[in-house]
Amino acid sequence: MPLEIAVARERLPGERRVALVPETARKFAALGAAIRMEQSAGIESHFLDTDYADVRPVPGVPEAYAGAGLILRVTPPAPEEIAALPEGAVLVGLLQPYADRDRLAALNARRITAFSLELLPRISRAQSMDALSSQASCAGYQCGLIAAARCTKFFPMLTTAAGTIRPARVLVVGAGVAGLQAIATCKRLGAMVEAYDVRAAAREQIESLGAKFVDTGVSADGTGGYARELTAEEKVRQAEKLAKAAAAADVVITTAAIPGKRAPLIITQDMVKGMKYGALVVDMAAESGGNCAFTQAGEHVVFNDVNIHGPLNLPSRMPTHASELYAKNLYNFLSPWIKDGQLAFDWSDEILAGTVLCKDGRTVHAGVRQALGEAP
Ligand code: NAI
Repeated sequence: MPLEIAVARERLPGERRVALVPETARKFAALGAAIRMEQSAGIESHFLDTDYADVRPVPGVPEAYAGAGLILRVTPPAPEEIAALPEGAVLVGLLQPYADRDRLAALNARRITAFSLELLPRISRAQSMDALSSQASCAGYQCGLIAAARCTKFFPMLTTAAGTIRPARVLVVGAGVAGLQAIATCKRLGAMVEAYDVRAAAREQIESLGAKFVDTGVSADGTGGYARELTAEEKVRQAEKLAKAAAAADVVITTAAIPGKRAPLIITQDMVKGMKYGALVVDMAAESGGNCAFTQAGEHVVFNDVNIHGPLNLPSRMPTHASELYAKNLYNFLSPWIKDGQLAFDWSDEILAGTVLCKDGRTVHAGVRQALGEAP
């Protein structure tokens, strides 16, 4: 029996991506896998069932999942979808590993081997599988576009018959993958961009995009290439410098995150009070609590004539390319382990071992166990 790969339609409200696009379906099929997909699973990303030449369409989730060995998803499965997973199957997706203890218990009860791509080690060999990066690129790009569309000024400098228009000033806080893409997008549109990140390496990356680095004197590198949380004293120093930059900006884009934690609060109420009338905050961290004190997830709030946007699921605003990149990440992660139509993992591989969340009825990822307060 060849490996059966299954994909169901994503059901989270607002989710428009799909875990498999026609091109990657073809590649999985070439490795000897048989693929089934719930009808219209790709429709929100503008892939029709007829585009998937190598896939058998099935009417619903039970038909897709029954007997499948490998289930591909974008978002975590809902309880009723977990109930439809075949016992012992392999599940791969952005499973939000820190979010829901009950979900982990349900996966473990069905002895699912679950890989959560948020846990993928940030090493060179894993770059082609890095779904956080591919989706963060989409999100950062969308932040830049939202900012330009909502700003009451031109982004570029304009020389017109009526006189010269000065370019808009953008401050980007958090210059990881998303922040750098937001910087690049705003630069391409002609804005004057300043940016800040607590990691020391970010300065060079910000400057290489032609933006100015805001030096707060605070440096906070953590483990695995991520930032660590700031101390109370560091937060005060950071706030003093950033308040000045925010006051001069027409747009502030925030993308700061700490893995597994609430997003750091960086743009305080006082900073917003000090911003120009008509200025804009686009808070990409809205989903994980927000970087701005006024952010409300999924909402648009106005305070003191400053508009604060907290958009959700930004990659879903460009589902065709977001799905294409995500599906390529999944293929790059899984294809080394599919031979002659069979799935066989080598658990000594550091990428597999680092990404596995649940296995043999247990939550096995040490970082997740620790974050959820479970014994090591
Ligand atoms: P992330 O989404 O966890 O955080 C976004 C940014 O917020 C980070 O740059 C972080 O330093 C920054 N941040 C956190 N707290 C902050 C604060 N209080 N003030 C200002 N900024 C703050 O990060 P992302 O984008 O996932 O990247 C994290 C790191 O991983 C980066 O160093 C990136 O270059 C690296 N990376 C490595 C890869 C690889 O080698 N395979 C692939 C992708 C990223």
